[in-house]
Amino acid sequence: MHKATHFFTSSIGKKVIMAVTGLILIGFVIGHLIGNLQIFAAPEVINSYAHFLQSMGPGLWAVRLFLLAALVLHVWAAVQLTIENRKARPRGYDYDHTIQASYASRTMRWSGFIVLAFLLFHLAHFTVRIGPYDKYNEMTATITHQGQQIEVLDVHSMMVIGFQSPLVSLFYIVAIGLLSIHLSHGIASMFQSVGLLTNRWRNGLANAAIAISVLYFIGNALIPLSVLFGWVDIQNPSLIASL
Ligand code: HEM
Repeated sequence: MHKATHFFTSSIGKKVIMAVTGLILIGFVIGHLIGNLQIFAAPEVINSYAHFLQSMGPGLWAVRLFLLAALVLHVWAAVQLTIENRKARPRGYDYDHTIQASYASRTMRWSGFIVLAFLLFHLAHFTVRIGPYDKYNEMTATITHQGQQIEVLDVHSMMVIGFQSPLVSLFYIVAIGLLSIHLSHGIASMFQSVGLLTNRWRNGLANAAIAISVLYFIGNALIPLSVLFGWVDIQNPSLIASL
């Protein structure tokens, strides 16, 4: 068999694919969180940032396709490895070994699926802005771009109005909670797959994975919670006038 094909079909190859694509996706979600935290600054800050991303044109599509490829490969390798594990023990365990597995590792599959469902909703909500959310497209604000005043999508108000719905905010917080649990186990397994989780580093890496995930959860959950508690509010004068 060709070496590259052998790599893709072997168990270790798929684990490496999971680790590498997982790392890419972690990089994205942390970068995305840092971008979103700009909601706590003046609205012009996040509106300019979103305008910058949207004006990347083909560059933005290249990044989107790269992330989509990473996500597809990540899910594909997870499904393949699950099938292989099932084949290796077709009768299942005689008793429930999962008692010894951590809560995070037992929830990897379904937390992954719920995060995927969240992602579809999230894209319809804030990126494609369809159905009840197409009204966001009419919300614009002025920013200063290269010395000129231009009208852009008012992402600040879009996020505030989006999270003023307790149900939507609750869905975000639950999904982010699951994603954080998924990350805590994923980061540790990533080190294991590439052979870095030696006995010497095990506890330190597991604690670092939990710390990253907890910080990730707090950072993200603060966004909808701050809107719900009224700490972040609409600042667009034309929207305030129409409310
Ligand atoms: C409180 C949490 C989050 C907030 C406030 C948030 C906010 C946003 C906003 C405002 C956009 C649209 C940007 C624009 O079109 O200008 C966006 C896009 C996106 N978000 Fe999130 N997001 C959150 C969590 C997440 C999570 C957990 C994921 C991944 C699992 C995620 C993945 C994405 C993706 C893939 C896009 C599309 C980027 C693109 O291709 O344009 N987001 N998010």
